[in-house]
Amino acid sequence: MIRVGVIGYGYWGPNIVRNLQGLGSTRVEMVCDSSSTALARVRKAYPGLRTTQDSGELLRSPEIDAVAVITPVWTHYELAKAALENGKHVFIEKPFTSNSDQAKELIDLAARKGLTVMVDHTFLFTGAVRKIRQLVESGSLGDLYYYDSLRVNLGLFQHDVSVIWDLAPHDLSIMDHLIKGEPEAVVATGERHLNGVEDVAFMTIYFPRNVIAHINVNWLSPVKIRTTLIGGQKKMLVWNDLVADEKIRVYDKGVDIASGEGIRNMLVSYRTGDMWAPQVEQLEALHVELGYFADCITKSEAPFNDGHAGLRVVQMLEAAEESIQKRGELVQL
Ligand SMILES: NC(=O)c1ccc[n+]([C@@H]2O[C@H](COP(=O)([O-])OP(=O)(O)OC[C@H]3O[C@@H](n4cnc5c(N)ncnc54)[C@H](O)[C@@H]3O)[C@@H](O)[C@H]2O)c1
Repeated sequence: MIRVGVIGYGYWGPNIVRNLQGLGSTRVEMVCDSSSTALARVRKAYPGLRTTQDSGELLRSPEIDAVAVITPVWTHYELAKAALENGKHVFIEKPFTSNSDQAKELIDLAARKGLTVMVDHTFLFTGAVRKIRQLVESGSLGDLYYYDSLRVNLGLFQHDVSVIWDLAPHDLSIMDHLIKGEPEAVVATGERHLNGVEDVAFMTIYFPRNVIAHINVNWLSPVKIRTTLIGGQKKMLVWNDLVADEKIRVYDKGVDIASGEGIRNMLVSYRTGDMWAPQVEQLEALHVELGYFADCITKSEAPFNDGHAGLRVVQMLEAAEESIQKRGELVQL
């Protein structure tokens, strides 16, 4: 049984506590939040569960094996560092840290102490992304051409981070999981309209072998859209995360080029075959992910969404931020 202390019981924290309590292999030992209102919600939902406003009490407790950091990003580094220094494994929210130096320091510290760090890249554990990964790995889609994602809605406005730091980590972690090879360069543009941070942004990421990715993130959209197109040489797919059935549709469509001498002799043929919607597992992503966290600790195995995965996402976010400041200049990674 892994005994977990959870820090942060705002919007996302309750999902972490509920899943940890329901797993069987983990138990929430204590919840910390600096807000007494948040702790009153904990006590109402889980009478008898220990609560504290002092993170030090939780971090030093000998009855805790692992700490879940579910607080805003600017607090991640200090809390995770203190958890590791106190010998606790760490489950930490995305984005991992506010900058890559902090991420590298935490990775080194965890390695020195032999502790597990898992970054909550929740989407990697959804039935949809697990299925897409199978399709990519099995070669069904063929060589990848592009990843194109629309992740827009009205709000939820964050005051401490821009829309890129809030929403893009989802796509960046999915791309990191699906596309082979490290990203090479980033171009991003964005604009601030309301509270001093970008609320609309567009990001392009160049990968090896001509794979290109584009992400459109926006807090000022009248409608919520979560749609991703992934194009491969053999097949293409559309993933609409907002529908209950047929979240993923795979199209046997493509373009074949048979070229003779010179561009005029190029023969383009369009292939149009069947569309099919593969079965997508319905398990709650956090349930799968937190179960994996407990397994990794028990077996002393490094998770695939470890600190290094978190760092790669932070590096892409930093590059995007730099490119936005330079009004869309290419930033090499
Ligand atoms: N994986 C996902 O899909 C997903 C979804 C939403 C949020 N998140 C991430 O979860 C984190 C929290 O987001 P949220 O929307 O729940 O924020 P939130 O502001 O709603 O909640 C954060 C809570 O942490 C508490 N807190 C802040 N600093 C603290 C400290 N030093 N010690 C103790 N308590 C502290 C606050 O009082 C608040 O209750 C962010 O990193 C966010 O990016 C991830």
